[in-house]
Amino acid sequence: MKLGVNIDHVAVLREARRVNDPDILNALYVACANGADQITIHLREDRRHIQDVDVTNIMQHSTLPVNLECSINKSILDIVAKVKPHRATLVPEKREEVTTEGGLDVFGSADEIAYAIELLHDSIIPVSLFVDPTIEAMEKSKELGAEMVELHTGTFANLFAMLHSNLPHSEHSVKEFELPRYELSSRLEKSLEDIKNAAIHAHNLGLEVAAGHGLNYHNVHEMMQIEEIIELNIGQSIIARSVFSGLADAVKEMKRLTIK
Ligand code: PXP
Repeated sequence: MKLGVNIDHVAVLREARRVNDPDILNALYVACANGADQITIHLREDRRHIQDVDVTNIMQHSTLPVNLECSINKSILDIVAKVKPHRATLVPEKREEVTTEGGLDVFGSADEIAYAIELLHDSIIPVSLFVDPTIEAMEKSKELGAEMVELHTGTFANLFAMLHSNLPHSEHSVKEFELPRYELSSRLEKSLEDIKNAAIHAHNLGLEVAAGHGLNYHNVHEMMQIEEIIELNIGQSIIARSVFSGLADAVKEMKRLTIK
């Protein structure tokens, strides 16, 4: 399994003080040296963590492919087209969200997404779409011209956390927090089925399949059972663990858990 390490969270900490500490390039070097197969970063419209200069620096110094996540906003796409990452992953973006909350609206925003894909393809950048794990979204992603899909695993991760830790993973899961365990358990099973079915369908359509959001040291083994998923992009749990164990060990341990 390819492990994409999302180092945005190092920039979150840096931006809390607006000094260059921790230095995101240190995170890049440590991730590259300890088992990451890819570096993932998200240039958000509000620049709340990764800055334009980080993108340039990371592109210049990464010894691994860079997966640049971005919205379909034209000014962001122009930057992405210029820096030419190894891949662009299109994600939905809302100013008020804490993190990406759902997959792209591949139906409601079809024209804008098709335009974004065309613009990126003109710069020879392969495109992945971050989408909810539904059969319809796989078909639409193929139709829109993407090479890859990244399945949003947030619902699965929320349910897993509620069932196994009694902690809601995000504010969105609070309404489900009161559910009895057997109901959580069957919803968790259904969310895994959805991911598996979407992965198989996407694979059969000729799309490459990645997954990400909310994956951690406890739930990642469930993704390892799905053959069609070839890549996982993981950020929060790795950086959170690194506070206690150091980034090198945190990346190494996630790599160990994601070796097929
Ligand atoms: N994949 C995508 C498309 C994302 O937007 C994010 C969050 O930045 C991730 C993966 C990583 O999610 P997490 O930080 O929860 O591991």
